Amino acid sequence: MEDAAADKLPEPLHRYFKQGSAGGISVGEATAAWSSYRFRPRILTDVSTVDLRTTVLGTPVDVPVLVAPSTLQRQADPGGEAAMAAGVAAANSLLGVSSNAGTTFADIGAAGAPWWLQIYVVKNRNVTLHMLDAAVAAGARAIVLTADTPVVGRKEDDGPTVWEAVQPGHLLANLEEDDYLPEDLAKADDLTPDVIGWLSERTGLPVVVKGVLRGDDAKRCADAGAAGVIVSNHGGRQLDGSISTARALPEVAEALVGTDVELYVDGGIRRGEHVLAALALGARAVFVGRPALWALSVAGSAGVTRLIRDLGDELEHAIRLVGCPRVADLSPDLITR
Ligand code: FNR
Repeated sequence: MEDAAADKLPEPLHRYFKQGSAGGISVGEATAAWSSYRFRPRILTDVSTVDLRTTVLGTPVDVPVLVAPSTLQRQADPGGEAAMAAGVAAANSLLGVSSNAGTTFADIGAAGAPWWLQIYVVKNRNVTLHMLDAAVAAGARAIVLTADTPVVGRKEDDGPTVWEAVQPGHLLANLEEDDYLPEDLAKADDLTPDVIGWLSERTGLPVVVKGVLRGDDAKRCADAGAAGVIVSNHGGRQLDGSISTARALPEVAEALVGTDVELYVDGGIRRGEHVLAALALGARAVFVGRPALWALSVAGSAGVTRLIRDLGDELEHAIRLVGCPRVADLSPDLITR
């Protein structure tokens, strides 16, 4: 899908989807880190029945593969986020919607997929509140606080950037231009765990913190009332050289033992075996970012459905081979480093 998307997309857009920040160290090693785990499969177990269904914050999904929030989806496909949502709905999965979405939350919600709003809390909290209200009204089921972005990661572009080609309205479709000044949208760089309570009080929704890479931070989020955390380094687009999520996951899982905080992970997950490793190490579900953008670019909503189903099929196959048919029973002893 990546190759097909590269053929189809304008070069600056393809580069924008693919790139990491600074020297590209974290983005470059994300997938390799998943591939470096080795399994210790069990034999002679009955694997005739495998059931991949689970729930995420109470929402049932057919496979533990969800779509991460990302921008510029209308550049990838004219249907943009609504097409992404339709593809996710057909696969009975769940969608993260970027606060920079180029489609209104109402149109995204109408596509029928369960979705969570990803929020960047910005300097002008009224702008953030406006967006939260719109998302609640359109049926968002949770708020994903992106916490790894006090400032935006530095991308090194040596060609025309994608932003030159972005049509007005294809970014921030959920804000009226008259309602804010550019400085209002600067990321809030003074956030503390209190913001978790603020977000859930203002919306009445559970809050999931995205960008956790340390066990002690996961604990701080849990103590502040987070319902979930996503182990993520933002697809290698924030601090370059950040630890890969495959490596960070075990420590975070350990820190959350004994809490009811749900644990998810993203970054570099490209195969069913990577999903298997993530689940065995304690994740309840994974998110995929770039693969969903490539799938949307290549084949619109049908591409997104196929991506999720294919990853589900690969996972089911790998689960049979690892000899542990119940997803809930996958455990770290199935993995060695
Ligand atoms: C992102 N990501 C992201 N995250 C977020 O919280 N808000 C956002 O608006 C975006 N936008 C965005 C755009 C693009 C083009 C990419 C590639 C990524 C990060 C995303 O949610 C996720 O953390 C990573 O993409 C996961 O890594 P993989 O699956 O892309 O390797």
